[in-house]
Amino acid sequence: MSLRIRPMTISDLDHVLAIAETAVTAPRWPRESYQEAIGPGSRRIALVAEQDGLVAGFAVMSILPPQAELESIAVASRWLRHGVATALLQDLMEAARWGEATELLLEVRASNRAAAELYARAGFLEVGRRPGYYADPVEDAVILRLGLWKSRVQL
Ligand SMILES: CC(C)(COP(=O)(O)OP(=O)(O)OC[C@H]1O[C@@H](n2cnc3c(N)ncnc32)[C@H](O)[C@@H]1OP(=O)(O)O)[C@@H](O)C(=O)NCCC(=O)NCCS
Repeated sequence: MSLRIRPMTISDLDHVLAIAETAVTAPRWPRESYQEAIGPGSRRIALVAEQDGLVAGFAVMSILPPQAELESIAVASRWLRHGVATALLQDLMEAARWGEATELLLEVRASNRAAAELYARAGFLEVGRRPGYYADPVEDAVILRLGLWKSRVQL
């Protein structure tokens, strides 16, 4: 088993959309949003994780220094709990530092336990809530923050 993190390309998009489709707690982005994210002049970093040559997960982050925002991260069901999201997160943190961001922020559904555990383990802390932010079902968004100069991810 070999895990490789690399930039997302156009030819990944069918796989990325398929993963996002099955990961019900991932944001529903249309193909055009991913195309924009990987297109020229984008302020976003979009990565995929490859397991044995197949797309196992992906993540998208925007950078507007001093902040970076994790906008989407999802892993194919076959590869859950294999460290794929942790590896994506680690590379995004590195990219955010290179982009001169000093903090990484994200919003997550209050009930998303898998994501909450992932982020807690990476060192994110809750800094606020947006009541009723999500629809279908209506739910609070928890705002999490990671200071990039003191971050840690345990593999
Ligand atoms: C959240 C998600 C991205 C995690 O991906 P993953 O590749 O399985 O995560 P990792 O294997 O890197 O897990 C790292 C740690 O996070 C925690 N974790 C991950 N999934 C978990 C779960 N279902 N329950 C409890 N803890 C979990 C564990 O501490 C895990 O370490 P361990 O496996 O050694 O116990 C994945 O569950 C997913 O795609 N969910 C649907 C999309 C989504 O909700 N995205 C986040 C939106 S904000």
